Amino acid sequence: PMSATFANQPPVDFADSHQRAAMLDALTSVREKLGRHFPLVIGGRKLDTQERITSTDPSLRTRIVGTTASASAEQAREAVAAAVQAMDAWHTSGAESRAKVLRKAAEIMRSRLMELSAIEVYECGKTWREATADVDEAIDFLEFYATGAIKLQRTRGADVPGEENRFEYLPRGVTAVIAPWNFPLAILCGMTSAAIAVGNTVVMKPAEQSSIIAGVFMEILEQAGLPAGVVNFLPGLGEVAGAALVEHPDVAAIIFTGSREVGLAINARAAETSRKSRVGVKRVIAEMGGKNAIIVDSDADLDEAVAGIVHSAFGFQGQKCSACSRAIVLSSVYDQLLARLVEATRSLPIGPSEEPSTAIGPVIDDESRERIERYIEIGKTEGRTLLATDVSQLVERGAFVGPHIFADVSPQARIAQEEIFGPVLAVIRAADLSEAIQIANSTDYALTGGIFSRSPHSLERARREMQVGNLYLNRAITGAMVGRQPFGGYKMSGIGSKAGGEEYLLQLVVPRTVTEHT
Ligand code: NAD
Ligand code: ALA
Repeated sequence: PMSATFANQPPVDFADSHQRAAMLDALTSVREKLGRHFPLVIGGRKLDTQERITSTDPSLRTRIVGTTASASAEQAREAVAAAVQAMDAWHTSGAESRAKVLRKAAEIMRSRLMELSAIEVYECGKTWREATADVDEAIDFLEFYATGAIKLQRTRGADVPGEENRFEYLPRGVTAVIAPWNFPLAILCGMTSAAIAVGNTVVMKPAEQSSIIAGVFMEILEQAGLPAGVVNFLPGLGEVAGAALVEHPDVAAIIFTGSREVGLAINARAAETSRKSRVGVKRVIAEMGGKNAIIVDSDADLDEAVAGIVHSAFGFQGQKCSACSRAIVLSSVYDQLLARLVEATRSLPIGPSEEPSTAIGPVIDDESRERIERYIEIGKTEGRTLLATDVSQLVERGAFVGPHIFADVSPQARIAQEEIFGPVLAVIRAADLSEAIQIANSTDYALTGGIFSRSPHSLERARREMQVGNLYLNRAITGAMVGRQPFGGYKMSGIGSKAGGEEYLLQLVVPRTVTEHT
């Protein structure tokens, strides 16, 4: 019988010399084999295109990680047709049999954990720890949704004499999965595995910047025994392949994670095209950005607060929707905290992500670097520059931006309101906790947030008043674990229920009651 319980993948411990050696080996063997090409996969058939997407290493921009085909709008429509065809057999195969495939994929990922992590190091500039955590999370999603779909399939209903009631869930239908590059395996795999676990079929559109790890994920699904057409691999440009999926009359659901701008556009476009839909009003799940704050109370343990802020603000170079981009510090500890924060951040080693000691790697690409640099210029006029790390030497080789900290920033300043998605932290002074909470809530977003405090009363107020989807008390605000911290926000941070939570699958099914007179 299938296990009905879920346990998180234990994290890799790089203090262990065997694990370090395994990662070094994986980096070498992955590096030697870089440059593969991945075609589209539509209904099990491999198709190439004239246009290609080239994925490069942000730590060394001359290094090509691989290439993929780039789908046209017509090919997006073919992929949807293949997904339509695969729907019936996949749905009727049952949750147990679908779970078997997902669990097999998880097993393959476990056995290739270091290799997959090494690909992320080269393709996305993830440091060792960030890369392995992403692969762990992908494995967790496969296991979690496999288990969840089995639970969901157990028919329920209250029978009374002469009447039998059955409650069941039908899949919504063809689902477009449109993914970001910042958790290149975990989020892509999470959205895809949730959809297929409950019997939907998928057209999977990865982000342009992380198409190679996505291509490898597609191969793993095939190796795990996924029938042709259940997941179709559609690397391509967002405005071309992505847009064609959103508009398609046979697409019943769209699961998107990415920027607010694109998420809102998809939501509007899906609504506009629902009138011509053959499968009803399109269901959109959109996980979007954040402008997350950590409050430091006057009685906080400052060592803990500094460690929590540094980790949350600069982990993966600040390129997490969950990242801390605002520190709101009470006046009485303001100067003390800032001094320590700057020193702690200054000590972070910056360099190519493949180096084991690197804490800060490059950002995803030069376009992103330039956008962040523009915000840094704005920051210089909006705040007092406390730390401006110079990385001019590294910029010659890759898309590096050093950590920046600006103090005395006004809560309404652009760097305190707009998602920068880079290693830039705005520090804001607050007179008391009421003001701190009011500032924390004064953005369009509501994703993550936290407070460091020793006072139960302050923690209780944060619990009651901070408007965020994931609130953390006395710890970092990134690194939610599947099952333990179901993840997702509201306001402009997203629509839909939490990834890695019990309710996520319910969005991807249609509930139905069947009553028989007996
Ligand atoms: P993005 O919005 O630029 O791209 C996301 C995906 O949308 C890509 O696959 C892209 O090709 C596609 N796309 C672009 N235009 C499209 C269109 N017109 N129609 C259909 N698809 C289109 O985001 P990104 O730069 O890849 O990721 C960073 C953003 O993602 C940040 O804003 C971050 O906060 C957010 N994010 C949110 C979460 C969350 O759970 N809330 C998690 C990770 C990332
Ligand atoms: N789930 C990711 C985190 O919590 C985004 O950091």
